[in-house]
Amino acid sequence: MYILGIETSCDETAASVINFNPRTEKIQVLSNIVSSQIEIHKKYGGVVPEVAAREHVLNILPVINEALSAAHLKVKQLNCIGVTKGPGLITSLITGVETARTLAYAWHKSIVEVNHIDGHIYSNFIAPQSPITFPALILTVSGGHTILLRMTKKRNIRIIGETRDDAAGEAYDKAAKMLGLEYPGGPIISKYAEQYQKNLDQKKNNKSNSSKTSPKNRIILPRPMINSKDFDFSFSGLKTALLYQLQKDHNWRKRIPEYCFEYQQAIIEILITKTIKAARKFKSKTIMLSGGVSANTELRTQMAQAIKKEIPQANFLIPDKKYTTDNAVMIATAAAYKVKQGKFTDFKHLQVDASLQLK
Ligand code: KG4
Ligand code: ZN
Repeated sequence: MYILGIETSCDETAASVINFNPRTEKIQVLSNIVSSQIEIHKKYGGVVPEVAAREHVLNILPVINEALSAAHLKVKQLNCIGVTKGPGLITSLITGVETARTLAYAWHKSIVEVNHIDGHIYSNFIAPQSPITFPALILTVSGGHTILLRMTKKRNIRIIGETRDDAAGEAYDKAAKMLGLEYPGGPIISKYAEQYQKNLDQKKNNKSNSSKTSPKNRIILPRPMINSKDFDFSFSGLKTALLYQLQKDHNWRKRIPEYCFEYQQAIIEILITKTIKAARKFKSKTIMLSGGVSANTELRTQMAQAIKKEIPQANFLIPDKKYTTDNAVMIATAAAYKVKQGKFTDFKHLQVDASLQLK
């Protein structure tokens, strides 16, 4: 079955065509088109909703056209359209939803509404490296969400913890702004952190015969809620701690790589500690990562190492990097599993829902 996915929840206009086999649940990605507005929003230091909305309107039809032609698919071969209904920026979501509604009406196709977070969760189902076994645990970390979820079987998802304030990606983006770095914060902060780690390793190698390897005046930031009894997160205190340290440190511009390293390490340690704790409690057989922050190489590596050490029997899965940040393949995939359950939406009643929750 051929599914067209459409995603416009934030600053990426995306469309994709997948071929889903409902019996085997195998997915073939026929096209994955993402028109990113990052370059446009960079000069404002973040996403400007009004600008994002206008860009979506300009891009949506060319992006859908490209997705269909790259898939070598004629409209009449399409079985249905899956579209992000929310959560996200209402003025961005509306372009995707209204386009999907119009096309469904004109092309006589059925429509499936998709929760954006569901999309991130199902990014792990696009091309899993090994079978997903249940109960599973999923950490979704993006610019808008930090959520730990339990999945007892497909389409049976429960939130067990989430952020009480900023999302992990938002923490990266806000820190980058404070450090005078560009938007989005995740990739640039991780680049500086990597640079700092490399320098540290080099220094250690040079002094390999000496025991004096720990640097003096090391920057130390807190790990909020790391030992709390629940599975919730909080990142706003970390951001404030960074601000206070920068205000006290007249030399901070010379220490940007070290600030990035410590800040990223604090985020990663919190995410790993909570994930391991939840996986132990819920006896998770598979642990999955998803969302834009899971593109982070250090998070992927450290999480894999921690799981291997602490819960060696668990299966650890991460989507291919191109499916971690916003894309429409994950939306089409989440739609595919809803189609299997016969969960279609009447296009006449489909409406955006900017604050949609996971049910
Ligand atoms: O999933 P996504 O594309 O959009 C939302 O649904 O929010 O995630 C975007 C977020 C941004 O906050 C960005 O800074 C973060 O993901 N991000 C990263 C990396 N690449 C993107 N964070 C850490 N490391 C990265 N390599
Ligand atoms: Zn997202």
